Amino acid sequence: MNFRIRRRRIFEGKAKVLFEGPEPGTLVQYFKDDASANNDQKRGVIRGKGVLNNRISEYLMTRLGEIGVPTHFMKRLNMREQLVRQVEIIPVKVVVRNVVAGSLSKRMGIPEGTVLPRSIVEFYFNKDELGNPMVSDEHITAFGWASPQEIDEIMALALRVNDYLSGLFLGIGLRLVDFKLQFGRLWDNDELRIILADEISPDNCRLWDVKTNEKMDKDRFRCDLGRVEEAYQEVARRLGIMPEAASLKPESEK
Ligand code: TMP
Repeated sequence: MNFRIRRRRIFEGKAKVLFEGPEPGTLVQYFKDDASANNDQKRGVIRGKGVLNNRISEYLMTRLGEIGVPTHFMKRLNMREQLVRQVEIIPVKVVVRNVVAGSLSKRMGIPEGTVLPRSIVEFYFNKDELGNPMVSDEHITAFGWASPQEIDEIMALALRVNDYLSGLFLGIGLRLVDFKLQFGRLWDNDELRIILADEISPDNCRLWDVKTNEKMDKDRFRCDLGRVEEAYQEVARRLGIMPEAASLKPESEK
């Protein structure tokens, strides 16, 4: 059964499409192979990425759910789709950093690879047209995107996710350099709860091999480092969730 034909399209992003789910309050999240970088200036296709990110995000969201982090993930439906809870998305990208890389390195003039004295949480307004500008909690409360209590909860959850995932990735020889999360709100028994949404995958994490410092994430695409598909496959392989090679083909080639 193909949800993309039967279901109403709610939203199409660069790497994912959201469709109306089978029950009220649910959505189907479809993972594409499309990739973009540098605020959409660079576009391309990473073959098999959608299948791999669907699996990787399922795995990580499930593990996080097991330690009590509320997530939107319900179940994987097929190779490229997962069923998620519909949440009211907070328009803020939450970035957690353990090691200096990417925009922090550029902005502060600190060499990539410098270990931070403690993990840093940053907020960015989720608006691609504006280049996702960095904002402070003052902007977030002043513009009414989230309350001070919600910001506290988001910070606490982001650091908890960081602690857990840092250990999980270290166990498979990968250093979690930084990553981006998105949160939403959901009514739960008369209580408005903060829920982890979106995806967690090599698209929105920096993962470096512990021994060689080789980049195993979307930076291989962003910086034209080559062997992009192989890096995503290697992350899935190390997590023990590498799907069969045939399933990585785009649907048009099956
Ligand atoms: P940055 O160094 O470009 O600010 O990115 C930090 C981390 O957050 C990196 O793992 C990529 C991720 N990220 C996204 O996935 N999407 C975004 O829009 C932003 C700003 C960061």
